[in-house]
Amino acid sequence: MDHFNITGGELHAEEVPLSRIAAEVGTPVYVYSTATLQRHARVFKEAVAQAGRTRVAFAIKANPNLGVLRLLANEGLGADVVSGGELKRALAAGMKAEDIVFSGVGKTRAELALGLDEGIGQFNLELEEEGVVLAALAAERGKRAPAVLRVNPDVDAGTHAKISTGKAENKFGLPIDQARAIFDRLAPLPGLDLRGVALHIGSQLKDLAPLEAAFDRVGLLIRELRAAGHKVTHVDLGGGLGVSYREGETPPSPAEYGAMVARATKDWDVELMFEPGRVIAANAGVLVTEVLWVKPGVTHPWVIVDAAMNDLARVAIYDAWHDVAAVRPSGETFTANVAGPVCESSDVFAKARVMDKVAQGDLIVLRSAGAYGATMASTYNSRALVPEVLVSGDRYAIVASRIAAETIMDAEQVPDWLK
Ligand code: LLP
Repeated sequence: MDHFNITGGELHAEEVPLSRIAAEVGTPVYVYSTATLQRHARVFKEAVAQAGRTRVAFAIKANPNLGVLRLLANEGLGADVVSGGELKRALAAGMKAEDIVFSGVGKTRAELALGLDEGIGQFNLELEEEGVVLAALAAERGKRAPAVLRVNPDVDAGTHAKISTGKAENKFGLPIDQARAIFDRLAPLPGLDLRGVALHIGSQLKDLAPLEAAFDRVGLLIRELRAAGHKVTHVDLGGGLGVSYREGETPPSPAEYGAMVARATKDWDVELMFEPGRVIAANAGVLVTEVLWVKPGVTHPWVIVDAAMNDLARVAIYDAWHDVAAVRPSGETFTANVAGPVCESSDVFAKARVMDKVAQGDLIVLRSAGAYGATMASTYNSRALVPEVLVSGDRYAIVASRIAAETIMDAEQVPDWLK
Protein backbone atom coordinates (compact mmCIF):
# COMPACT_ATOMS: atom_id res chain seq x y z
CA MET A 1 0.00 0.00 0.00
CA ASP A 2 1.26 3.48 -0.76
CA HIS A 3 0.10 7.07 -0.47
CA PHE A 4 0.28 8.09 -4.13
CA ASN A 5 -3.32 8.59 -5.20
CA ILE A 6 -5.39 10.55 -7.68
CA THR A 7 -7.36 13.36 -6.07
CA GLY A 8 -9.27 15.87 -8.18
CA GLY A 9 -7.93 14.34 -11.39
CA GLU A 10 -4.30 14.61 -10.35
CA LEU A 11 -1.76 12.27 -8.81
CA HIS A 12 -0.69 13.39 -5.35
CA ALA A 13 2.01 12.26 -2.96
CA GLU A 14 -0.03 12.25 0.24
CA GLU A 15 -1.71 15.68 0.01
CA VAL A 16 0.78 17.36 -2.30
CA PRO A 17 0.03 17.49 -6.04
CA LEU A 18 3.02 16.19 -7.98
CA SER A 19 2.62 19.04 -10.50
CA ARG A 20 3.38 21.49 -7.68
CA ILE A 21 6.66 19.76 -6.87
CA ALA A 22 7.53 19.55 -10.56
CA ALA A 23 6.85 23.28 -11.00
CA GLU A 24 8.81 24.31 -7.92
CA VAL A 25 11.72 21.85 -7.96
CA GLY A 26 11.85 20.95 -11.65
CA THR A 27 12.03 17.55 -13.28
CA PRO A 28 13.20 14.84 -13.15
CA VAL A 29 12.71 14.53 -9.40
CA TYR A 30 12.27 11.66 -6.97
CA VAL A 31 9.37 12.06 -4.55
CA TYR A 32 9.06 9.96 -1.37
CA SER A 33 6.08 9.60 0.94
CA THR A 34 6.66 9.73 4.69
CA ALA A 35 3.40 7.94 5.51
CA THR A 36 4.32 5.09 3.17
CA LEU A 37 7.83 4.69 4.59
CA GLN A 38 6.45 4.75 8.13
CA ARG A 39 3.77 2.24 7.31
CA HIS A 40 6.21 -0.15 5.66
CA ALA A 41 8.65 0.11 8.57
CA ARG A 42 5.93 -0.58 11.11
CA VAL A 43 4.36 -3.44 9.17
CA PHE A 44 7.73 -5.12 8.70
CA LYS A 45 8.75 -4.69 12.34
CA GLU A 46 5.47 -6.11 13.59
CA ALA A 47 5.55 -8.98 11.10
CA VAL A 48 8.97 -10.24 12.15
CA ALA A 49 8.26 -9.69 15.84
CA GLN A 50 6.18 -12.89 15.58
CA ALA A 51 9.53 -14.69 15.62
CA GLY A 52 10.60 -13.49 19.07
CA ARG A 53 13.60 -11.27 19.82
CA THR A 54 14.15 -9.28 16.64
CA ARG A 55 15.94 -6.18 15.36
CA VAL A 56 15.54 -4.51 12.02
CA ALA A 57 18.39 -2.74 10.22
CA PHE A 58 17.33 -0.95 7.04
CA ALA A 59 19.66 -1.87 4.13
CA ILE A 60 20.58 1.71 3.43
CA LYS A 61 21.97 0.91 0.00
CA ALA A 62 18.31 0.88 -1.08
CA ASN A 63 17.82 4.53 -0.14
CA PRO A 64 20.61 6.31 1.74
CA ASN A 65 19.05 9.76 1.74
CA LEU A 66 19.64 11.40 5.13
CA GLY A 67 16.03 12.57 5.44
CA VAL A 68 14.74 9.09 4.72
CA LEU A 69 17.20 7.56 7.17
CA ARG A 70 16.24 9.97 9.94
CA LEU A 71 12.60 9.10 9.40
CA LEU A 72 13.38 5.37 9.63
CA ALA A 73 15.60 5.90 12.68
CA ASN A 74 12.61 7.58 14.33
CA GLU A 75 10.67 4.37 13.59
CA GLY A 76 13.30 2.43 15.56
CA LEU A 77 15.18 0.98 12.61
CA GLY A 78 18.93 0.58 12.58
CA ALA A 79 21.09 0.38 9.46
CA ASP A 80 22.76 -2.32 7.41
CA VAL A 81 25.76 -0.62 5.80
CA VAL A 82 28.25 -1.83 3.21
CA SER A 83 30.84 0.95 3.14
CA GLY A 84 32.43 3.59 5.30
CA GLY A 85 30.32 6.13 3.43
CA GLU A 86 27.10 4.37 4.39
CA LEU A 87 28.32 4.01 7.97
CA LYS A 88 28.91 7.76 8.19
CA ARG A 89 25.47 8.43 6.69
CA ALA A 90 23.74 6.18 9.21
CA LEU A 91 25.46 8.05 12.07
CA ALA A 92 24.79 11.45 10.48
CA ALA A 93 21.10 10.53 10.22
CA GLY A 94 21.00 9.92 13.96
CA MET A 95 21.18 6.16 14.04
CA LYS A 96 22.89 4.71 17.09
CA ALA A 97 26.21 2.98 16.45
CA GLU A 98 25.00 -0.12 18.27
CA ASP A 99 22.12 -0.39 15.77
CA ILE A 100 24.49 -0.55 12.79
CA VAL A 101 25.49 -3.78 11.07
CA PHE A 102 28.43 -3.74 8.67
CA SER A 103 27.95 -6.15 5.73
CA GLY A 104 29.90 -6.32 2.49
CA VAL A 105 32.33 -8.56 0.74
CA GLY A 106 35.19 -6.07 0.46
CA LYS A 107 35.56 -4.00 3.62
CA THR A 108 38.88 -2.19 3.77
CA ARG A 109 41.04 -2.14 6.87
CA ALA A 110 40.21 1.55 7.28
CA GLU A 111 36.49 0.75 7.15
CA LEU A 112 36.84 -2.01 9.74
CA ALA A 113 38.77 0.42 11.97
CA LEU A 114 36.08 3.07 11.51
CA GLY A 115 33.41 0.58 12.57
CA LEU A 116 35.42 -0.32 15.67
CA ASP A 117 36.14 3.28 16.60
CA GLU A 118 32.46 4.17 16.26
CA GLY A 119 31.45 1.10 18.27
CA ILE A 120 29.00 -0.39 15.77
CA GLY A 121 26.77 -3.27 16.80
CA GLN A 122 27.90 -6.02 14.45
CA PHE A 123 30.37 -6.95 11.72
CA ASN A 124 29.23 -9.58 9.22
CA LEU A 125 32.41 -11.40 8.21
CA GLU A 126 32.73 -12.63 4.66
CA LEU A 127 35.96 -14.59 4.96
CA GLU A 128 38.25 -16.00 7.59
CA GLU A 129 41.07 -13.56 6.90
CA GLU A 130 38.72 -10.64 7.49
CA GLY A 131 38.00 -12.05 10.96
CA VAL A 132 41.73 -12.28 11.69
CA VAL A 133 42.31 -8.68 10.63
CA LEU A 134 39.26 -7.40 12.53
CA ALA A 135 40.36 -9.26 15.68
CA ALA A 136 43.83 -7.70 15.46
CA LEU A 137 42.45 -4.19 14.90
CA ALA A 138 40.09 -4.65 17.85
CA ALA A 139 42.83 -6.02 20.12
CA GLU A 140 45.01 -2.98 19.30
CA ARG A 141 42.15 -0.83 20.59
CA GLY A 142 41.53 -3.00 23.66
CA LYS A 143 38.15 -4.00 22.22
CA ARG A 144 36.27 -7.16 21.22
CA ALA A 145 34.50 -6.84 17.90
CA PRO A 146 30.95 -8.25 17.84
CA ALA A 147 30.87 -10.42 14.73
CA VAL A 148 28.96 -13.10 12.88
CA LEU A 149 30.03 -15.24 9.91
CA ARG A 150 28.11 -14.78 6.69
CA VAL A 151 27.46 -18.18 5.22
CA ASN A 152 26.48 -19.01 1.68
CA PRO A 153 23.76 -21.66 1.91
CA ASP A 154 23.91 -22.55 -1.80
CA VAL A 155 20.25 -22.09 -2.63
CA ASP A 156 18.77 -20.65 -5.78
CA ALA A 157 16.78 -17.60 -4.76
CA GLY A 158 14.87 -17.66 -8.05
CA THR A 159 15.49 -13.98 -8.72
CA HIS A 160 17.33 -12.03 -11.43
CA ALA A 161 20.87 -13.41 -11.83
CA LYS A 162 22.36 -9.97 -11.14
CA ILE A 163 20.76 -9.76 -7.70
CA SER A 164 21.14 -13.38 -6.59
CA THR A 165 23.72 -13.85 -3.82
CA GLY A 166 23.15 -17.22 -2.16
CA LYS A 167 24.41 -19.67 -4.78
CA ALA A 168 27.77 -21.32 -4.21
CA GLU A 169 29.20 -19.63 -7.30
CA ASN A 170 28.35 -16.12 -6.05
CA LYS A 171 31.09 -14.07 -4.39
CA PHE A 172 29.15 -13.69 -1.13
CA GLY A 173 29.58 -15.51 2.17
CA LEU A 174 31.54 -18.58 3.20
CA PRO A 175 30.66 -22.07 2.04
CA ILE A 176 28.30 -23.26 4.76
CA ASP A 177 30.15 -26.57 5.11
CA GLN A 178 33.34 -24.71 6.08
CA ALA A 179 31.66 -22.54 8.69
CA ARG A 180 32.32 -24.89 11.61
CA ALA A 181 36.07 -25.12 10.91
CA ILE A 182 36.33 -21.34 10.51
CA PHE A 183 34.41 -20.84 13.75
CA ASP A 184 36.89 -23.18 15.49
CA ARG A 185 39.78 -20.99 14.34
CA LEU A 186 38.23 -17.54 14.80
CA ALA A 187 36.23 -17.96 18.01
CA PRO A 188 39.30 -18.16 20.30
CA LEU A 189 40.73 -14.84 19.03
CA PRO A 190 40.64 -12.37 21.94
CA GLY A 191 39.72 -9.43 19.71
CA LEU A 192 36.59 -11.12 18.41
CA ASP A 193 33.23 -11.80 20.00
CA LEU A 194 32.07 -14.34 17.42
CA ARG A 195 28.45 -14.87 18.26
CA GLY A 196 26.53 -16.21 15.31
CA VAL A 197 25.89 -16.35 11.60
CA ALA A 198 24.39 -14.26 8.82
CA LEU A 199 22.98 -14.97 5.38
CA HIS A 200 21.39 -13.08 2.52
CA ILE A 201 20.46 -15.05 -0.57
CA GLY A 202 19.24 -12.36 -2.93
CA SER A 203 16.87 -9.51 -3.57
CA GLN A 204 13.34 -9.14 -4.96
CA LEU A 205 12.45 -12.66 -3.80
CA LYS A 206 8.94 -13.59 -4.85
CA ASP A 207 8.82 -16.96 -3.17
CA LEU A 208 9.49 -17.90 0.45
CA ALA A 209 10.59 -21.48 -0.30
CA PRO A 210 14.27 -20.72 -1.08
CA LEU A 211 14.49 -18.55 2.03
CA GLU A 212 13.00 -21.26 4.19
CA ALA A 213 15.38 -23.84 2.69
CA ALA A 214 18.30 -21.52 3.48
CA PHE A 215 17.05 -20.93 7.03
CA ASP A 216 16.73 -24.68 7.56
CA ARG A 217 20.37 -25.08 6.56
CA VAL A 218 21.34 -22.39 9.02
CA GLY A 219 19.31 -24.17 11.70
CA LEU A 220 21.41 -27.31 11.16
CA LEU A 221 24.59 -25.23 11.30
CA ILE A 222 23.52 -23.65 14.61
CA ARG A 223 23.12 -27.12 16.10
CA GLU A 224 26.48 -28.23 14.74
CA LEU A 225 28.21 -25.13 16.11
CA ARG A 226 26.62 -25.48 19.53
CA ALA A 227 27.50 -29.17 19.64
CA ALA A 228 31.11 -28.12 19.05
CA GLY A 229 30.89 -25.81 22.07
CA HIS A 230 30.42 -22.54 20.22
CA LYS A 231 28.20 -19.70 21.38
CA VAL A 232 25.44 -18.82 18.91
CA THR A 233 23.30 -15.97 20.17
CA HIS A 234 22.73 -13.87 17.05
CA VAL A 235 21.52 -14.75 13.56
CA ASP A 236 21.15 -12.21 10.77
CA LEU A 237 18.62 -13.35 8.17
CA GLY A 238 19.44 -10.60 5.64
CA GLY A 239 16.89 -8.86 3.45
CA GLY A 240 15.44 -9.75 0.10
CA LEU A 241 11.66 -9.73 0.46
CA GLY A 242 10.20 -8.75 -2.91
CA VAL A 243 7.63 -6.09 -3.70
CA SER A 244 4.95 -5.72 -6.34
CA TYR A 245 6.24 -3.67 -9.29
CA ARG A 246 3.24 -4.37 -11.48
CA GLU A 247 -0.34 -5.41 -11.20
CA GLY A 248 -0.78 -9.12 -10.70
CA GLU A 249 2.55 -9.57 -8.96
CA THR A 250 1.89 -11.00 -5.52
CA PRO A 251 5.09 -11.35 -3.55
CA PRO A 252 4.75 -12.77 -0.03
CA SER A 253 3.52 -10.20 2.47
CA PRO A 254 5.66 -9.23 5.44
CA ALA A 255 3.13 -11.10 7.63
CA GLU A 256 3.59 -14.32 5.63
CA TYR A 257 7.35 -13.84 5.75
CA GLY A 258 7.24 -13.25 9.52
CA ALA A 259 5.14 -16.40 10.03
CA MET A 260 7.62 -18.45 7.99
CA VAL A 261 10.55 -17.03 9.95
CA ALA A 262 8.81 -17.83 13.24
CA ARG A 263 8.27 -21.42 12.08
CA ALA A 264 11.77 -21.93 10.69
CA THR A 265 13.56 -20.44 13.70
CA LYS A 266 11.36 -21.59 16.56
CA ASP A 267 14.08 -23.70 18.23
CA TRP A 268 16.98 -21.38 17.63
CA ASP A 269 16.86 -19.29 20.82
CA VAL A 270 18.78 -16.38 19.31
CA GLU A 271 18.27 -12.69 18.62
CA LEU A 272 17.27 -12.33 14.98
CA MET A 273 18.43 -9.46 12.79
CA PHE A 274 16.75 -8.45 9.51
CA GLU A 275 18.13 -6.25 6.74
CA PRO A 276 15.17 -5.22 4.56
CA GLY A 277 15.71 -2.55 1.93
CA ARG A 278 13.34 -2.72 -1.01
CA VAL A 279 10.25 -3.77 0.94
CA ILE A 280 10.51 -0.62 3.04
CA ALA A 281 11.39 1.92 0.35
CA ALA A 282 10.50 0.79 -3.19
CA ASN A 283 6.82 1.62 -3.23
CA ALA A 284 7.34 4.73 -1.13
CA GLY A 285 8.84 6.65 -4.04
CA VAL A 286 8.15 7.75 -7.61
CA LEU A 287 10.29 9.42 -10.22
CA VAL A 288 8.46 12.39 -11.75
CA THR A 289 9.47 13.30 -15.27
CA GLU A 290 8.22 15.56 -18.06
CA VAL A 291 7.40 14.48 -21.58
CA LEU A 292 9.83 16.33 -23.86
CA TRP A 293 8.62 14.96 -27.18
CA VAL A 294 6.34 12.35 -28.59
CA LYS A 295 8.29 11.02 -31.54
CA PRO A 296 6.71 8.76 -34.14
CA GLY A 297 8.09 5.20 -34.08
CA VAL A 298 7.93 2.27 -36.47
CA THR A 299 5.48 0.30 -34.35
CA HIS A 300 4.67 2.63 -31.45
CA PRO A 301 5.34 6.27 -30.65
CA TRP A 302 8.35 7.10 -28.50
CA VAL A 303 7.51 9.12 -25.40
CA ILE A 304 10.82 10.88 -24.76
CA VAL A 305 10.99 12.04 -21.15
CA ASP A 306 13.53 14.18 -19.29
CA ALA A 307 14.51 11.33 -16.92
CA ALA A 308 16.99 8.78 -18.21
CA MET A 309 18.86 5.62 -17.35
CA ASN A 310 21.38 7.66 -15.40
CA ASP A 311 18.57 8.77 -13.04
CA LEU A 312 16.89 5.36 -12.74
CA ALA A 313 19.18 2.54 -13.84
CA ARG A 314 17.09 -0.49 -12.91
CA VAL A 315 15.42 -0.99 -16.27
CA ALA A 316 18.67 -0.81 -18.23
CA ILE A 317 20.53 -3.10 -15.81
CA TYR A 318 17.94 -5.70 -14.78
CA ASP A 319 15.20 -5.31 -17.41
CA ALA A 320 13.09 -4.25 -14.45
CA TRP A 321 9.48 -3.21 -14.78
CA HIS A 322 8.31 0.16 -13.45
CA ASP A 323 4.70 1.17 -13.88
CA VAL A 324 4.23 4.36 -15.88
CA ALA A 325 1.33 6.69 -15.14
CA ALA A 326 0.30 10.20 -16.12
CA VAL A 327 0.15 12.76 -13.33
CA ARG A 328 -3.09 14.07 -14.88
CA PRO A 329 -4.61 11.07 -16.66
CA SER A 330 -7.06 12.00 -19.42
CA GLY A 331 -8.80 8.66 -19.30
CA GLU A 332 -7.47 7.76 -22.75
CA THR A 333 -4.71 5.19 -23.22
CA PHE A 334 -2.32 4.36 -26.02
CA THR A 335 0.53 1.92 -26.63
CA ALA A 336 3.93 3.58 -26.56
CA ASN A 337 7.60 3.24 -25.72
CA VAL A 338 8.99 5.45 -22.98
CA ALA A 339 12.63 6.47 -23.24
CA GLY A 340 15.11 8.97 -21.89
CA PRO A 341 17.51 11.29 -23.74
CA VAL A 342 20.72 9.32 -23.07
CA CYS A 343 22.57 8.08 -26.12
CA GLU A 344 22.17 4.36 -25.46
CA SER A 345 19.55 1.99 -26.83
CA SER A 346 19.15 0.62 -23.31
CA ASP A 347 17.86 4.00 -22.11
CA VAL A 348 14.27 2.79 -22.45
CA PHE A 349 11.92 2.64 -19.47
CA ALA A 350 9.04 0.81 -21.14
CA LYS A 351 8.45 -0.93 -24.45
CA ALA A 352 5.08 -1.32 -26.17
CA ARG A 353 3.42 -0.26 -22.93
CA VAL A 354 -0.30 0.32 -22.74
CA MET A 355 -0.31 3.55 -20.77
CA ASP A 356 -2.12 6.81 -20.13
CA LYS A 357 -2.09 8.84 -23.32
CA VAL A 358 0.31 11.73 -22.89
CA ALA A 359 1.54 14.65 -24.97
CA GLN A 360 4.47 17.05 -24.92
CA GLY A 361 4.70 18.94 -21.62
CA ASP A 362 2.70 16.38 -19.62
CA LEU A 363 4.12 14.90 -16.44
CA ILE A 364 4.42 11.19 -15.89
CA VAL A 365 5.71 9.07 -13.02
CA LEU A 366 7.73 5.91 -12.93
CA ARG A 367 6.41 4.12 -9.87
CA SER A 368 8.13 1.96 -7.26
CA ALA A 369 11.29 4.03 -7.56
CA GLY A 370 11.99 4.60 -3.85
CA ALA A 371 14.54 1.78 -3.60
CA TYR A 372 17.66 1.48 -5.75
CA GLY A 373 16.58 4.60 -7.63
CA ALA A 374 18.31 7.88 -6.79
CA THR A 375 21.13 6.03 -5.08
CA MET A 376 22.12 4.31 -8.31
CA ALA A 377 22.00 7.53 -10.31
CA SER A 378 25.04 8.74 -12.21
CA THR A 379 25.92 11.81 -14.23
CA TYR A 380 26.38 9.93 -17.50
CA ASN A 381 26.02 12.15 -20.57
CA SER A 382 26.97 15.04 -18.24
CA ARG A 383 23.51 15.16 -16.85
CA ALA A 384 22.72 16.71 -13.47
CA LEU A 385 22.36 14.49 -10.42
CA VAL A 386 18.63 14.04 -9.82
CA PRO A 387 17.10 15.73 -6.73
CA GLU A 388 14.92 14.10 -4.07
CA VAL A 389 11.87 15.40 -2.22
CA LEU A 390 10.20 14.06 0.91
CA VAL A 391 6.49 14.68 1.36
CA SER A 392 4.69 14.56 4.69
CA GLY A 393 0.97 15.33 4.64
CA ASP A 394 0.53 18.68 2.91
CA ARG A 395 4.18 19.77 3.05
CA TYR A 396 7.34 18.73 1.31
CA ALA A 397 11.06 19.35 1.62
CA ILE A 398 13.92 18.99 -0.81
CA VAL A 399 16.05 16.31 0.86
CA ALA A 400 18.68 16.19 -1.90
CA SER A 401 19.34 19.11 -4.23
CA ARG A 402 19.88 18.78 -7.93
CA ILE A 403 23.62 18.85 -8.55
CA ALA A 404 24.24 20.72 -11.77
CA ALA A 405 26.56 19.51 -14.50
CA GLU A 406 28.69 22.63 -13.92
CA THR A 407 29.15 21.71 -10.25
CA ILE A 408 30.26 18.24 -11.20
CA MET A 409 32.78 19.81 -13.58
CA ASP A 410 34.26 21.75 -10.64
CA ALA A 411 35.92 18.53 -9.44
CA GLU A 412 37.86 18.18 -12.69
CA GLN A 413 40.87 20.02 -13.99
CA VAL A 414 42.94 20.17 -17.13
CA PRO A 415 46.61 19.40 -16.28
CA ASP A 416 49.09 22.28 -16.55
CA TRP A 417 50.98 20.64 -19.38
CA LEU A 418 47.93 20.78 -21.60
CA LYS A 419 47.23 24.44 -20.95
N1 LLP B 1 21.48 -7.33 3.05
C1 LLP B 1 22.46 -7.56 2.17
C2 LLP B 1 23.70 -8.19 2.64
C3 LLP B 1 22.31 -7.19 0.83
O1 LLP B 1 23.29 -7.43 -0.04
C4 LLP B 1 21.12 -6.57 0.40
C5 LLP B 1 20.92 -6.16 -1.00
C6 LLP B 1 20.11 -6.34 1.36
C7 LLP B 1 20.33 -6.75 2.67
C8 LLP B 1 18.81 -5.69 1.03
O2 LLP B 1 18.07 -6.44 0.12
P1 LLP B 1 16.56 -6.03 -0.22
O3 LLP B 1 15.72 -6.21 1.03
O4 LLP B 1 16.57 -4.63 -0.64
O5 LLP B 1 16.18 -6.95 -1.29
N2 LLP B 1 20.18 -2.82 -7.16
C9 LLP B 1 19.34 -4.00 -7.17
C10 LLP B 1 19.25 -4.66 -5.81
C11 LLP B 1 20.59 -5.03 -5.23
C12 LLP B 1 20.48 -5.63 -3.86
C13 LLP B 1 21.80 -5.81 -3.23
N3 LLP B 1 21.80 -6.30 -1.90
C14 LLP B 1 17.97 -3.63 -7.72
O6 LLP B 1 17.76 -2.47 -8.07
O7 LLP B 1 17.11 -4.49 -7.87
